[in-house]
Amino acid sequence: MEYILVVDFGGQYAHLIMRRIRELNVYSEVASAYTGLGELKNLIRGSLGVILSGGPGSVWEQHHDDIVKIALEEDKHLLGICYGHQLIAKVLGGVVGKASNPEFGPTLLTIKVKDPLFATIPNFISVWMSHNDSVLEPPKGAIILASSPGSPVAAFRFGNRVYSVQWHPEVAHSMYGIELLNNWLRIVGAPRNWRPEVMVEELVHKVWEAVGESKAVAAVSGGIDSTVAALIAHKALGSRLYPVIIDHGLHPEGEPWRSLELLRKTGLEAKLIDASDRFYEALRGVRDPEGKRRVFGAVYAKVLEDYAESVGAEYLVQGTIYPDVIESGARPGASIIKTHHNVAGLPAAFKLKLVEPLKWFYKDEVRRIARKLKVPEEIIKRQPIPGPSLAVRIEGEVTREKIEIVRKADAILREEIEAAGLQDRLWQYFTILLESKATGVKGDERVYGNVIAVRAVASVDAMTASIARLPWEMLENIASRIASEVPSVVRVVYDLTSKPPATIEWE
Ligand code: XMP
Repeated sequence: MEYILVVDFGGQYAHLIMRRIRELNVYSEVASAYTGLGELKNLIRGSLGVILSGGPGSVWEQHHDDIVKIALEEDKHLLGICYGHQLIAKVLGGVVGKASNPEFGPTLLTIKVKDPLFATIPNFISVWMSHNDSVLEPPKGAIILASSPGSPVAAFRFGNRVYSVQWHPEVAHSMYGIELLNNWLRIVGAPRNWRPEVMVEELVHKVWEAVGESKAVAAVSGGIDSTVAALIAHKALGSRLYPVIIDHGLHPEGEPWRSLELLRKTGLEAKLIDASDRFYEALRGVRDPEGKRRVFGAVYAKVLEDYAESVGAEYLVQGTIYPDVIESGARPGASIIKTHHNVAGLPAAFKLKLVEPLKWFYKDEVRRIARKLKVPEEIIKRQPIPGPSLAVRIEGEVTREKIEIVRKADAILREEIEAAGLQDRLWQYFTILLESKATGVKGDERVYGNVIAVRAVASVDAMTASIARLPWEMLENIASRIASEVPSVVRVVYDLTSKPPATIEWE
């Protein structure tokens, strides 16, 4: 598949650029600038064009000049953005320095030359800037295309293959950003042939190449990501793939048997391993969210290793998707939001080699692949459940009693949402058992009991989320059912926070 390579210098936006390019129907991947130069050279050589993205450092402090030089030597189409803009300017001999006027946020841009990059874009637009340094003088022979109050060289072209802009066209706050990227893809001559579903054969081939003649275990949950990853691996490996569902004792009500049934509908026969005692034992006394994730990940890894050893498998197929990779800080230079057990929660000495066919995909893309693979809609539409499941929906220590409380409350919430037919309009809905207690009256008695929080959100890819505006009467009914049907609960609260600033899960 032909692709645009986005080189990530550790800024926040490389993944967003990749996403925008894909939305324009061109395949794109991100590579860290800290990847070895040899590997980067191969990736650059194989690409249609390279985008050098933003980064937190100054071009004078870091040493990434070689990356620009390689792209120039390979005569690739190049687009610099923010830090990438300054880096290209510096390598080509321009002057980069402290701007008299650093720019953060919306900035008025004046387009000076009606270059093909700005076809369809008006001459005065507001764009999103975020920089201390600026390109003060362009490289010799470059044409200044645009400027802003703090960026005399806000955009330039060098020859016919190098473009560079100071602002972030990928963020929604930049007017005509998508048009700019679209125009650049036109200049590159990139064919618009990317649709996630056309990748299936290639993904199957990649798994086959990775695993060779060996065997693999696929950890499946009955959710869409792990099911799709397992189906792809199944196509590649047939009976050399061993799908397994681990019963960790922290599933929502009715699980994991329902998952087993759903998987059967896709043609995958999974083995169910009851390891709940091992999980409860290991989680005893662990209170903090990251601690719980690590412990959960460690036990999960051990159970998988034991099973793999029993069937003679060397590989583990997982349904890791791109947001898991980003939020786990698995990219060099990025910060950790939380440890997803299927990315960063595995112990360093994990024995199995990982195969993650969906690592580059967003959820909506995985859904399209799932439909291509004829995965039942029930699985496609299932709400995601975090790997550590109810362990991260119980504040503080996880005990059997607490699991029962949150499980019951969760089942009531699900029943009500499904009865109202709202399940397909929401990304996730679940309950959290808080650590703090509150006063209530039950019967004629004053009691000091548990508090349940209800969370319901809408989202496209879990990177951002808005709260669900559930009908008031429905919320009242949910609260009253939970407080009366779950004996220890005296109070129910509704979470009104979007992501950001909150995350979707509480822990
Ligand atoms: P947050 O809470 O980070 O969640 O806004 C984003 C999406 O990821 C799911 N999630 C997890 N998935 N392991 C997983 O496999 C985890 O540790 C984990 N934590 C959060 C969450 O349910 C939401 O869909």
